[in-house]
Amino acid sequence: MKKIGVLTSGGDAPGMNAAIRAVVRAALGRGAEVVGFLHGYEGLIGDEAVPLDSMKVGGIITHGGTILRTGRSKHFMTKEGREQALCTLQDHEIEGLVVIGGDGSLKGALTLHEDFGFPVMGVPASIDNDISGTDYSVGFDTAVNTAIEAIDRVRDTAYSHERVFVIEVMGRRNGFIALEAGLAGGAESILIPEVPYSLLDMCTSLRTAAERGKKSSIIIVAEGAARASDIKVFIERNTGFEARYLVLGHMQRGGTPTAFDRVLGLRLGAFAANRLLSGFRGEMAGVDGNGLVAHPLGYALSTQRMVDPEKLLLAEVMAQ
Ligand code: F6P
Repeated sequence: MKKIGVLTSGGDAPGMNAAIRAVVRAALGRGAEVVGFLHGYEGLIGDEAVPLDSMKVGGIITHGGTILRTGRSKHFMTKEGREQALCTLQDHEIEGLVVIGGDGSLKGALTLHEDFGFPVMGVPASIDNDISGTDYSVGFDTAVNTAIEAIDRVRDTAYSHERVFVIEVMGRRNGFIALEAGLAGGAESILIPEVPYSLLDMCTSLRTAAERGKKSSIIIVAEGAARASDIKVFIERNTGFEARYLVLGHMQRGGTPTAFDRVLGLRLGAFAANRLLSGFRGEMAGVDGNGLVAHPLGYALSTQRMVDPEKLLLAEVMAQ
């Protein structure tokens, strides 16, 4: 392979730039050229190509977001859109493509591979951490740390005013951010979509805690489980306690990537580029413990990633 393409797609995730840098420099090191496409699959369809050399990816490792921009392309979901994307790749004589993104973006890569046999490699990057076949997706660690910083700040005011605070975090249909941030932030209750919960039981726990002298509490709710505003109203109606709510929203997606996400992005990006150049295709790079692994994209995308039951149990014990 003499030339490969790279794009970022779906929700941006801190550490994506490290992955782009690694794809480019690993490929250049093996004598291959790299072309980036702006705005995800939309830029592949519309031929928004930018040649990437070592200088172009210099100084980006510290930045959140993605220098290639990103997007969610409806057009690429159609066969016609994918045919157009293939034409662009062929016009540029690109022989393989690295896609950096979440599950929807990696599904797009798999479809390109299945439709036309085009060589693709996936790098899991999503703050949601909901992709199977890897212990961590690029961006998750930074998002959790951002959420924890917010939780710590809110705890100060919750304590001072003796209030209950409900903090909603992202995660789409999953509770990985909520569980991790809730544990690390010492939340009194963590509500996630994967596990049934009772708001009445939660209110009972708040009352019991207040009787013990604990007058302020933090409830973390995953966006896929409930709306923080609804939980706040429920708590006030059922306990009489004063409550406030906060939706952290997109601030969880931005900011300087943590060291963990930078190194993860670098390792996965370089691994994906190297495997592509070595003739592997249709795979997703992942991390398993301390080592790197590659799984068929089809396997990674058809398996549901589950929250760690041990962490859930720990959260329950810690909330007592
Ligand atoms: O997948 C990343 C994510 O931030 C989810 O946590 C969230 O549900 C979604 O993207 C928000 O998407 P958008 O930026 O399109 O509002």
